[in-house]
Amino acid sequence: MELTIKNNKKIKNTAILLISTALILITIIIHLNYPLIFLQSPSLYSSSYRQNSSVIHAGGDINKTDDHEKCDIFTGEWVRNADAPYYTNTTCWAIHEQNNCIKYGRPDLDFLKWRWKPNGCELPVLNPYRFLDMARGKKMAFVGDSVGRNHVQSMICLLSRVEYPIDVSTTSDDHFRRLSYVNYNFTLAYFWTPFLVRFEERDPDGPAHTGLFNLYLDESDESWASQIDGFDYLVLNAGHWFPRTTVYYENRHIVGCRYCKLPNVTEYPMAYGYRYAFRTAFKAINERKNFSGVTLLRTFAPAHFENGMWNEGGDCPRRRPYRSNEKTLEGDNLDMYVIQSEELKAAQKEGKKEFRLLDTTQAMLLRPDGHPSRYGHWPDQNVTFYNDCVHWCLPGPIDSWADFLAHIIKMEARRTSAERLFQR
Ligand SMILES: *[C@@H]1O[C@H](CO)[C@@H](O)[C@H](O)[C@H]1NC(C)=O
Ligand SMILES: *[C@@H]1O[C@H](CO)[C@@H](O)[C@H](O)[C@H]1NC(C)=O
Ligand SMILES: *[C@@H]1O[C@H](CO)[C@@H](O)[C@H](O)[C@H]1NC(C)=O
Ligand SMILES: *[C@@H]1O[C@H](CO)[C@@H](O)[C@H](O)[C@H]1NC(C)=O
Ligand SMILES: *[C@@H]1O[C@H](CO)[C@@H](O)[C@H](O)[C@H]1NC(C)=O
Ligand SMILES: *[C@@H]1O[C@H](CO)[C@@H](O)[C@H](O)[C@H]1NC(C)=O
Ligand SMILES: *[C@@H]1O[C@H](CO)[C@@H](O)[C@H](O)[C@H]1NC(C)=O
Repeated sequence: MELTIKNNKKIKNTAILLISTALILITIIIHLNYPLIFLQSPSLYSSSYRQNSSVIHAGGDINKTDDHEKCDIFTGEWVRNADAPYYTNTTCWAIHEQNNCIKYGRPDLDFLKWRWKPNGCELPVLNPYRFLDMARGKKMAFVGDSVGRNHVQSMICLLSRVEYPIDVSTTSDDHFRRLSYVNYNFTLAYFWTPFLVRFEERDPDGPAHTGLFNLYLDESDESWASQIDGFDYLVLNAGHWFPRTTVYYENRHIVGCRYCKLPNVTEYPMAYGYRYAFRTAFKAINERKNFSGVTLLRTFAPAHFENGMWNEGGDCPRRRPYRSNEKTLEGDNLDMYVIQSEELKAAQKEGKKEFRLLDTTQAMLLRPDGHPSRYGHWPDQNVTFYNDCVHWCLPGPIDSWADFLAHIIKMEARRTSAERLFQR
């Protein structure tokens, strides 16, 4: 992460590259180190709290076309985009049924017509050719819950204008997929691990008439952690399973639980398990000798249930994005965002591996209109999750995550080429 500026007299023509790389790093470091400053600001989602581009350019000698490198791409607004969507359910076969909202009769299509516009710069919409060029010879794994699968399927659909991957999975288990873009030698993998740590279902009909899970908070889930060697990128997420009824274990002993109703077991807040799980997952990555890739924390994407939770008849009926000043991150969403950001920062401090932030929280908080709601199945289908306000329709606002991802990979490519220059 650290760059030394010893040789820059010699290598004059790399100076500009170095300066811009340093600025990116500073931006990332500031974002990682001070998430709380942004969170505590009452104007977190207002467009005025950040410098605008003319202020950012006060330094002068950096090319304007590169201004996105210094800009916080994760703070902004949804703006109109007449060109979207970039695929449909007939051009892309990878859409999971539960996210195939248009097939299941979603009548309004306005939710497709937006793109993310950071304050003070532009975030280009994914160019699938350029992305695959950058990804040539690389391996990328998505690690986490089904929103991670949602993300992978969005990527597959966006890239399908260039190429479809072939399935090279070594198991028939749908929770673990490995896909190959043969013309680009690019591998895309998906590991389902809803808690990141080892878990098992203790009772399928727990106290809340949902599954009661044992979480082994100090043991990473080896189904992904043992598989990451050789991957260039991990895109990690977790969150939506943590409100469930769970029993927390440490050192194989029960230490507490969440709504487990077991005798003599102390009730712990969800935040306890959530923080511990991230700490364990990041530790597993840091200690994995043969993993030398970059880990991106894809931050929590809030659900949008209104008038009750998922099992209380709650729904997400809104049909427009919020403006940034209409919605503030608060409650559990805020706690989860802060916890994972803090744990990312702590993992980065270890200095063993590379960690980056892929902050989707702020953008997705503003998209109550992007979920399947009741259009993830036929009206007469008997499903437990009737109104889905957690996952995202495909196509839909989750497609913007590819824009963030492409930006980060581009920055990484520049960083590594800058580092190579200075290692000579
Ligand atoms: C951005 O800069 C312009 C030109 O200096 C200024 O007029 C405008 O008020 C600034 N906007 C914000 C939000 O600071
Ligand atoms: C800045 O970008 C423009 C447009 O891409 C290019 O024409 C110009 O040469 C660049 N200037 C510098 C100093 O790199
Ligand atoms: C795609 O959506 C249309 C509705 O626009 C629906 O009639 C069709 O069955 C869907 N096809 C697939 C393959 O999902
Ligand atoms: C494909 O990429 C891997 C690294 O992921 C590399 O080891 C291998 O040599 C590449 N194969 C070809 C044919 O370029
Ligand atoms: C719970 O704790 C009480 C007091 O320490 C003890 O008397 C009781 O046997 C315990 N119950 C169980 C099921 O362990
Ligand atoms: C790491 O890689 C080295 C060299 O390929 C190999 O000898 C070693 O067994 C690997 N370690 C693990 C834990 O896989
Ligand atoms: C829906 O499915 C559940 C479990 O599969 C079953 O217990 C219930 O009776 C079903 N309800 C209807 C209306 O079919």
